[in-house]
Amino acid sequence: MTSNRRIQHTSSPSKKPILQVLNGESFNPPPFWLMRQAGRYLPEYRKVRSQVKNFLNLCLTPKHAVEVTLQPIRRYSMDAAIIFSDILMVPYALGQNVDFEKSKGPVLKKLSNISKFCDFNIKTFHHSLEPVYETISLVKEELDNNTTLIGFCGAPWTVATYMIEGGSTRDFTRVMSFAFSQPEAFQSLLSLLVEASFHYLNKQIVSGAEVIQIFDSWAGVLNEKEFQQWVIKPTKEIIRRLHTDHPHIPVIGFPRQAGPLYTDYIKETGVAAISLDQTASVSWAAQKIQPLCTVQGNLDPHVLVAGGEALKESLKEILSTLGGAPFIFNLGHGILPTTPPEHVAELTAFIRSWSQQT
Ligand code: CP3
Repeated sequence: MTSNRRIQHTSSPSKKPILQVLNGESFNPPPFWLMRQAGRYLPEYRKVRSQVKNFLNLCLTPKHAVEVTLQPIRRYSMDAAIIFSDILMVPYALGQNVDFEKSKGPVLKKLSNISKFCDFNIKTFHHSLEPVYETISLVKEELDNNTTLIGFCGAPWTVATYMIEGGSTRDFTRVMSFAFSQPEAFQSLLSLLVEASFHYLNKQIVSGAEVIQIFDSWAGVLNEKEFQQWVIKPTKEIIRRLHTDHPHIPVIGFPRQAGPLYTDYIKETGVAAISLDQTASVSWAAQKIQPLCTVQGNLDPHVLVAGGEALKESLKEILSTLGGAPFIFNLGHGILPTTPPEHVAELTAFIRSWSQQT
């Protein structure tokens, strides 16, 4: 990255733009990466994917996981690489049977005895995830001095929804009725996920991750009280424990569709940045959120599929409203498999030339 991208300077030890922005500096144009930037929209990903039997094997084979992590970086030079894995690696490493079926998405085997399942065995857990840690150290060696390596996990609430529902859901009936009819067992499951996520992220950092993102994709289905107990409380505990061991590692929170509760989440959890979904207004974010922390977001992934004028208009609005304060450009949710790779190239060119337009 050229030094003229920096418009503010504090004495931060790292020159990586994303680390500096997470440290409270502003860049023009802002650094960017895209959630789910590796994946099915890229032909080179589909080629690697066709060489392995199932998705889990892809995540657990460092040679392949390193390759697909780096594919988007080679094409578009994003400012961050996010390690190629999945939030459901945690239930897998805890001993739940996890499968990814072509037309159905993830399928998780029903947990028959929750209290027995909640006995955490750290040794077998780390052993199952060893290939992820190896992927992280191998990717780290490949990245240049400007590119930040992001590790991640799913937040306890979102991971618990998959574990209890047995897969993706529209109405959250099973997990909600479980949480209300067996509150102690549900609490044990959240505590297990806090414990497991903390150890998982800790090892990711030791292996080379420089930033952590916590994905809470289903935070938006909860009311304020549930959000406090099942989103804020466990996330705050994970971050508190991580910061005890690694005080300088920034954490980006993604409590998707939290609406008015984004503010409580930022004030209480200890995140360095908040990743906003596309339903959050950018002018609201500039006024109310950027004074609290770094903002990441929030282009609608459907607009990236559409491309053309709609894409340019959305990019202009986001960059002009949020670009003046600490900001990382991203999508409001993961990139869609139908996204034309040329549209990602247009987005990249537009962002990189943004300072010339202002
Ligand atoms: O960002 C990246 O490029 C890193 C890789 C990554 C994947 N999943 C790869 C993946 C990340 C960060 C995730 C996070 C994830 N996984 C979330 C949180 C973010 C979000 O999108 O809300 C969630 C909820 C999951 C669970 C999951 N994984 C589902 C529901 C599915 C099936 C639906 C789908 O998107 O395909 C997956 C599979 C998955 N994870 C794929 C990829 C590339 C597709 C699998 C394939 O190639 O067959």
